[in-house]
Amino acid sequence: MNRDLAYEMFSAQELKTRVAEIGRQLTEEYQGKAPVLLCIMKGSLVFTADLMREINLPCTLESITLSSYRAMATRPGELTMTKPFDVDVTGQDVIVVEDILDTGKTLSYVMELLKAQSPASLKLVVLLDKPSRREAQVEADIVGFTIPDAFVVGYGLDYDQKYRNLPCIGVLKPSVYSSQPEA
Ligand code: IMP
Repeated sequence: MNRDLAYEMFSAQELKTRVAEIGRQLTEEYQGKAPVLLCIMKGSLVFTADLMREINLPCTLESITLSSYRAMATRPGELTMTKPFDVDVTGQDVIVVEDILDTGKTLSYVMELLKAQSPASLKLVVLLDKPSRREAQVEADIVGFTIPDAFVVGYGLDYDQKYRNLPCIGVLKPSVYSSQPEA
């Protein structure tokens, strides 16, 4: 799998260190509270699993499943909610945990749906931020790493459902996806 990477952007150790920092920050910010972590599946699964173990508070876990990318690395596909939006966060302290903020369309949609439920508070944590690609107005409260406009895989992030199990994050060789037919 590593052979399909043009280069590694963040090693497993760098990810672990940054995730631990974010966990400590959230632990301090939510003292005396029991926040609910909302994992946006599937890309955020690995990040959420590691982050929640770095939060020293009685938090709970919810998830929603969305999908926006098909077999194209550079162009977002249509956003689809592959499972019903069946979380109820009314009155709760919600921490949305997402893998990557790209155009922002996914998260602006999700944040609006959540705001409509009147949570006690709402925070957005993203592991990666690609600000140069932003189309929708959405800002994360905590960003793990700001990255340039490159298609990355690993640590939960996929290309065509693959590479999620890479322990590092890397940039895929363009040759891996350039042979795919346009959607
Ligand atoms: P947005 O709605 O354009 O911000 O896209 C958010 C979603 O697109 C993320 O949750 C990812 O699933 C996917 N995505 C965006 N950029 C990348 C990337 O570089 N690699 C893998 N998935 C990506």
